Amino acid sequence: MEYINLDNRLNFPATTRNRDSIAAVLSNYISSNGLLLEIASGSGEHGVFFQQIFPSIIWQTSDPELVHRKSINSWIKHEGLFSKMPEPLDLDVEMRPWPITKQIRSLIKGIVCINMIHISPWTCTQALFEESKSHLNQNNFLMLYGPFLRKQVQTSQSNLNFDQSLKLQNPLWGLRQLDEVNELALENGFRQDKVIAMPANNLSVIYLLD
Ligand SMILES: C[S@@+](CC[C@H](N)C(=O)[O-])C[C@H]1O[C@@H](n2cnc3c(N)ncnc32)[C@H](O)[C@@H]1O
Repeated sequence: MEYINLDNRLNFPATTRNRDSIAAVLSNYISSNGLLLEIASGSGEHGVFFQQIFPSIIWQTSDPELVHRKSINSWIKHEGLFSKMPEPLDLDVEMRPWPITKQIRSLIKGIVCINMIHISPWTCTQALFEESKSHLNQNNFLMLYGPFLRKQVQTSQSNLNFDQSLKLQNPLWGLRQLDEVNELALENGFRQDKVIAMPANNLSVIYLLD
């Protein structure tokens, strides 16, 4: 049974390239206890890595795709983290309310969403902010990671190409304007704390709930 589960592990190569720099940003926001909710965990490779780097917190993964949740479970087992890490939640940001238990609600300190908002319709970004505010406490954080467009900063050719390829796959997808995300954050009671330039023309954007 264990071996069958191990076969479900997916490998998203970018996770090994970006996980250290994301962990460095997270280390400034993660407190000594509590729970972080990861939205759109994908393969689960980030989840198990961050759980090992930050052992004092509970890393709660989630994803709407069954194939991803199976992969996350397999990574949890493979890394021997099953006694520490909960199973992934079946969470689609647009299916509201989110399946947040009372226990999660009582422990939550932050929400992390890596590489989702450009690979989903804008309504997902709206749902992410609207729902996050009802599960976080004052000064808890919401961290977004990924490529963005910025009016005052020239977009790299690689990000422009990526934007085009996303829109060809789905016209509702595409890199988001950081100003528009900031506006949405403000409307939902979040203030931007930091924008951090990351490798490969990505950004980490941290919002705190007022
Ligand atoms: C490019 S992958 C990123 C996965 C992972 N965070 C990473 O960086 O490797 C995008 C992820 O967004 C998830 N996703 C897409 N639409 C979603 C939605 N409406 N709610 C939650 N997650 C969604 C997909 O299932 C997928 O796991």
